[in-house]
Amino acid sequence: MEETLLKIREVRKRFGGVYAVNGVNLDVKKGGICGLVGPNGSGKTTLFNTILGLHKPDQGTIHFNNNCINNLAPHQIYKLGLGNAFQIPRLFFQMSVLDNMLVAVRGHQGDKLANSLFLREKWQEQEKGMVEEALSILELVELDKLAFSPAGELSGGQRKLLEVARGLMAGSSLLLLDEPAAGINPVLGKSIFQKLRDLSRNGTTFFVVEHRLEILFEFASWIYVMDKGKTVAQGEPQQIVKEPAFYEAYLGEG
Ligand SMILES: Nc1ncnc2c1ncn2[C@@H]1O[C@H](COP(=O)(O)OP(=O)(O)O)[C@@H](O)[C@H]1O
Ligand SMILES: [Mg+2]
Repeated sequence: MEETLLKIREVRKRFGGVYAVNGVNLDVKKGGICGLVGPNGSGKTTLFNTILGLHKPDQGTIHFNNNCINNLAPHQIYKLGLGNAFQIPRLFFQMSVLDNMLVAVRGHQGDKLANSLFLREKWQEQEKGMVEEALSILELVELDKLAFSPAGELSGGQRKLLEVARGLMAGSSLLLLDEPAAGINPVLGKSIFQKLRDLSRNGTTFFVVEHRLEILFEFASWIYVMDKGKTVAQGEPQQIVKEPAFYEAYLGEG
């Protein structure tokens, strides 16, 4: 049976008098890569930010794992396992790749530590476990050999993979990625999506906005099309390219 991770119904988000998101309905099923496409200004980023709790929806409901998350703060949503690789601000370029992984969870654990200093030994034990976990996640994105290099030495593509790895380190079961292949050459862009597909086979689900349709359509299992704040079409990549609504959405775009 296919499990629905994210369920969005009639969501609207207005800026001033204008609806940036104007009646979105969609489901993200567990497993694989779900794509979100649409012309510039169609509301994709606003929808992502609304899901992540950065904007509060004016109308509609958002459920993650059967929990209504409409009124939760971003950190609460993050704790439920809904992450955004690029929401974690920037990498610490002076710090090692491994330390960048550890800060993804350390703050949270550190809070607990402050409450109970006598648990210090337990904390160090947890940290050992975290280093092992971080190294195994870095191996998945082929950054394990660079674990002790400064993050500033990574290429653009490797930095994006490190951000994805940090999202995984934080235990996200659903990761939202807004244009992971933007500004990266097509070959590397494709290799990022190959990695995402491998990771999705290990149980992480990805919901991805991507302008490079030829790359996205090769790896995504399901595509939603947005136009003027609404979801106007959905289907498998090879079906969606036959949908009139897909072409109509892009007609206005130069
Ligand atoms: N913080 C904001 N304040 C006012 N208008 C915004 C804001 N964010 C986005 N918009 C507007 O909402 C619409 C959708 O933008 P956006 O969600 O960024 O689209 P996309 O990601 O699909 O390109 C655009 O018209 C944009 O100008
Ligand atoms: Mg956008």
